[in-house]
Amino acid sequence: MVSSCPRLTVGSCSFQGRVCPLAFKSASRPGRSHAVAPACVAAAVELKTGKPLREEVITGSPDNNITDYIYDKMGMDLHRQPDHPIGIIKQAIYDYFEARNPGLFTKFDDRFPIVSTRANFDEVLVPADHISRSPNDTYYVDANTVLRCHTSAHQAETLRAGHSAFLVTGDVYRRDSIDATHYPVFHQMEGVRVFSEADWLASGLDPTKLAERDLKDALEGLARHLFGDVECRWIDAYFPFTEPSFELEIFFKGKWLEVLGCGVMEQRILDDNFKPGHKAWAFGLGLERLAMVLFDVPDIRVFWSNDDRFLKQFSAGDLKSRFKPYSKFPACYKDMAFWVSPEFSENNLCELVRSIGGDLVEEVTCIDTFTNKKTGRTSNCYRIVYRSMERSLTDEEINALQEQVRSQVAQVLKVELR
Ligand code: PHE
Repeated sequence: MVSSCPRLTVGSCSFQGRVCPLAFKSASRPGRSHAVAPACVAAAVELKTGKPLREEVITGSPDNNITDYIYDKMGMDLHRQPDHPIGIIKQAIYDYFEARNPGLFTKFDDRFPIVSTRANFDEVLVPADHISRSPNDTYYVDANTVLRCHTSAHQAETLRAGHSAFLVTGDVYRRDSIDATHYPVFHQMEGVRVFSEADWLASGLDPTKLAERDLKDALEGLARHLFGDVECRWIDAYFPFTEPSFELEIFFKGKWLEVLGCGVMEQRILDDNFKPGHKAWAFGLGLERLAMVLFDVPDIRVFWSNDDRFLKQFSAGDLKSRFKPYSKFPACYKDMAFWVSPEFSENNLCELVRSIGGDLVEEVTCIDTFTNKKTGRTSNCYRIVYRSMERSLTDEEINALQEQVRSQVAQVLKVELR
């Protein structure tokens, strides 16, 4: 997941629903060294739904890089809870598309999150060498199976099943850094609409122009439906699965905010999975990102809270409520310095810290780094911020967690503590 926006905290800035919301964009267009050609099969596949079994996720495969911390989030389905901010945003988007094109869009929100690398990458033309395929960025169940890292993983199969206008909402998974806007599980909605020859003849536009115009009209309307009378602007972008590609930004509370990625679907995806002679648009948006902006939620972790002080603030259909912070419990800071090894990766560090500290870990930040001139070795110092949303933490419990972090970091990441 190439990112063009450097962040001060650790890790690659990668994604949708987060600071830099688009994972698959990149500043420059990578070469198209690809990817297996997708098979054109008319699918009457039986689709699996529900919470996966633990052994379907944590498989013992040498390629498996999924922890129980991640598995425990699966099946929580925040997007299917009508009174949860993520469910409220989903429904508001449904309502918008329903009002714009009554009956047109078929909605899916229970697609199984375990998908093949083919569906997640190949079928949407993600190049074989694209960084998003790296096990540093994506959760692998085994060499050919992943936790979907975007809802675009369902584009091709849904087209093959014959749908020409659909919205697919689901939980998506990305290995990443830790802070107030980054969480390894979040929610996306994918939208696709296919046009036929009759549509562009009726519009008097060429097929690509028609798709582009309808896409931009639909999404600007959506932004206004959610955020009121906001100013919108379009930024040229790159995604492997769309051409041309755009990002929508809105001017909200004095800042330009990136809200989604979209474009005219790469013709090959349609030709291989639908029928030739059609044109389509596609968009992908991060629900957490929208919910944080709309409801004034300052920390992405709070969406996973069971605390009534959070949950009771929102109710189905109400886009007007604003998050009222309740007392913030004190944070506890622990610093840890070590000599990094060539294999060291910040995402691996974050994953490990989270697997020990769970949601008590608010942030992991590199606060200092230097290279010893004589030995050429580099030392990084990380600050781990622990905080509970629900209670005060005791010194003993944090010290015990930090001790575990230190010993695991040394053993598992093979770095030398200082
Ligand atoms: N899948 C893209 C992402 O996760 C978003 C996107 C979807 C962009 C569809 C264009 C079209 O970053």
